[in-house]
Amino acid sequence: MTDFPFKITKTEGRARTGVLSTSRGDIRTPAFMPVGTAGTVKALYTSQVEEAGADILLGNTYHLMLRPGSDRVARLGGLHKFMRWDKPILTDSGGFQVWSLTGLRKMTEEGVSFKSHIDGSSHFLSPERSIEIQADHLGADISMQLDECTNFPATYEEARSSMEMSIRWGQRSRDAFGERETQNLFGIVQGSTFEDLRKQSAEQLREIEFNGYAIGGLAVGEGHDRMIEVISFTEPHLPKDRPRYLMGVGKPIDLVEAVAHGVDMFDCVLPTRSGRHGQAWTWDGPINLKNARFIEDDSPIDETSDCPASRDYSKAYLNHLFKAGEYLAPMLLSWHNTAFFQSLMSRIRLSIEAGEFESLRRELNGKWRKTVE
Ligand code: GUN
Repeated sequence: MTDFPFKITKTEGRARTGVLSTSRGDIRTPAFMPVGTAGTVKALYTSQVEEAGADILLGNTYHLMLRPGSDRVARLGGLHKFMRWDKPILTDSGGFQVWSLTGLRKMTEEGVSFKSHIDGSSHFLSPERSIEIQADHLGADISMQLDECTNFPATYEEARSSMEMSIRWGQRSRDAFGERETQNLFGIVQGSTFEDLRKQSAEQLREIEFNGYAIGGLAVGEGHDRMIEVISFTEPHLPKDRPRYLMGVGKPIDLVEAVAHGVDMFDCVLPTRSGRHGQAWTWDGPINLKNARFIEDDSPIDETSDCPASRDYSKAYLNHLFKAGEYLAPMLLSWHNTAFFQSLMSRIRLSIEAGEFESLRRELNGKWRKTVE
């Protein structure tokens, strides 16, 4: 595989902090990747995402292949140029988004056929095609193997055969990717909540050799405690010198606990999605700005923040904007939440560096444990 320097500068228990170097810049870990599904982090300029502290964004094969078409993005110079973001981009392979289209998809050994949620047109995604779209058309710095996100709950047999297909797709993705100078490929561990399947998945993916390893098939209904348990028994089977990425997670409490169990990277739509619906994440937990108790609350969400959305606007003003259905409401709150998630990652990194992560973890658990589902 290509050189993909990942330097761990400090550990505390199983938590690690370090730097992942790419040709488009360094990614400080643990890292949270804002989600830019359709070539945009919804309601934000890329400059705001960058100023909030994000080193890397996530893009989606599924959405971009349907609209505007990945070959079109390629003709227009690739995804970085198209969306005006010159830092690293990780793209998801499409497996998970297609999996979410229950009823509109058909999986076979060859790949997955599905109908577009936009116009009903038919499409096909194989491991080879997914790599072509991610690495060649979009120009992702990190591509993900095509996988099948196993349904939850699943019987042992269902989880085993699904995980084994993801391994075969992992090998095909790896073969299609080949050797590349500046681009990277991650494998995805599956196996539902079964310890021996997760171990088998991790070990076989290690043999294929990827630049990093994701833990997939979580946050699909198993709940926080079960999810952390799965991470805890999966992590020892992943190589220490490669980044571990927990896909589609999560709430602030999930991030803190997953870091405590050795995870380095995350992505989730939560900051922007909840921002569009009036929910602000804060050090004291989530609040809903549509709530009547904020009608005359003149205080900002966080006066100590560097983010203008958190610091300069009153909760009363945000409450008004949401009630009036103004565009500025989701813009300001997505901005605040994106900055808040980046501040949390920054605090986590600094605390590991200083040997104070366990104390931060205890403090945040005290405040956020009640947000666990
Ligand atoms: N996003 C969240 N979970 C998953 C998963 O299991 N696989 C992929 N490809 N993406 C995800």
